Amino acid sequence: MSDEAVPQDKLIMIVDDEVVIGLDIMHLFEERGYRAVTASSGEECERQIAAGDVPDLILMDINLGPNRMDGRETTRRVQEYADIPVVLHSAYTDRATIQKTRDMTKYGYVHKVPGNGEFILATVEMAFRLREREQMYRDLSAHINDVREEQNAFMAREIHDDVGQSIVALKMNLTMLERATAPAETTPIIATMREALDAASSKIRTLIRELRPPVADTADIVEALQWHIREFEKTFSVATQFTSEVERVILGRDKSLSVFRIVQEALTNSVRHGNPSEISVEVGLEESSLVVRIADDGYGFVPAENASKESFGILGMQERAQRWNGSVTIESNSRTGTVVTAMVPHDFEHLEADS
Ligand SMILES: Nc1ncnc2c1ncn2[C@@H]1O[C@H](COP(=O)(O)OP(=O)(O)OP(=O)(O)O)[C@@H](O)[C@H]1O
Ligand SMILES: [Mg+2]
Repeated sequence: MSDEAVPQDKLIMIVDDEVVIGLDIMHLFEERGYRAVTASSGEECERQIAAGDVPDLILMDINLGPNRMDGRETTRRVQEYADIPVVLHSAYTDRATIQKTRDMTKYGYVHKVPGNGEFILATVEMAFRLREREQMYRDLSAHINDVREEQNAFMAREIHDDVGQSIVALKMNLTMLERATAPAETTPIIATMREALDAASSKIRTLIRELRPPVADTADIVEALQWHIREFEKTFSVATQFTSEVERVILGRDKSLSVFRIVQEALTNSVRHGNPSEISVEVGLEESSLVVRIADDGYGFVPAENASKESFGILGMQERAQRWNGSVTIESNSRTGTVVTAMVPHDFEHLEADS
């Protein structure tokens, strides 16, 4: 036995319509310390996962028999239950087969030929490492977001308590000065100073709101969004509708903040890039997820084409949702504009329905 760690806790599902091949590979994995199960069709794979038998990885055949779900469709469907890494496995290496899998998220591709066992094992090991890295990256990015939010909250408090208080004091001093001096000469100067202080106050309020969004003070995400959207409408003069299926949704502070930042970025993107005449934000519940849809009637864009190294907004939205095992999807075109749908799973026991 070598010094490799034995991956005892990992469960692999082999999806292959050729049962004998599936069993062969299952034994191969078991010999190396994995746990393994088989499914002889995409339908069976989906059934098992829907029933809660969620593997850590799927080795997926691409073609799963005539008139059957293929590996691509099966992957798409099981991804709706859980974010499971998939390694593709196929006897076919022709262009059409490979092309079919191009836009799939996959963690490797193995040629299904006899005697390829070591190659399968190595690919699967690599897929697990890749997944680990991905998880590390997500954790790190969540951590950086947390640190940033903490810093923001700290700065908001300092600005409020320190700068804000100084401005209040200065205003009071001005009032005293006004009473104590001859009006003719000082009144215009004092008026100018008061205006400058008012402008500073208002700027500070905006800054604090930006740094410490209203979710920080209310547990209810619906109320926080409603509040933000009213302010947003005033600031950018874009008609923005807000509707919610439910009156209150209590998510907990960190999750609320994630949802809030997602909506904030989507709204900012709309006014920055879309020039819309109207935006709508809808909050709804779907099974056990909170769903927020932000739709604009602006220019639209082609999501993949606009992925640039300097754009972190969309990536940030996705990371914030993934942190809670949720997702952000974007549909956009030049005819109807852009729709951002954020979905965050939640156990709604604290929910108060709109009745
Ligand atoms: N609602 C929208 N309407 C039109 N184009 C959009 C919309 N949202 C995003 N885009 C396009 O997608 C690109 C990427 O958006 P993303 O938020 O990731 O980056 P950004 O807004 O350019 O920069 P930042 O990193 O500051 O957010 C934008 O540059 C823009 O071209
Ligand atoms: Mg942006």
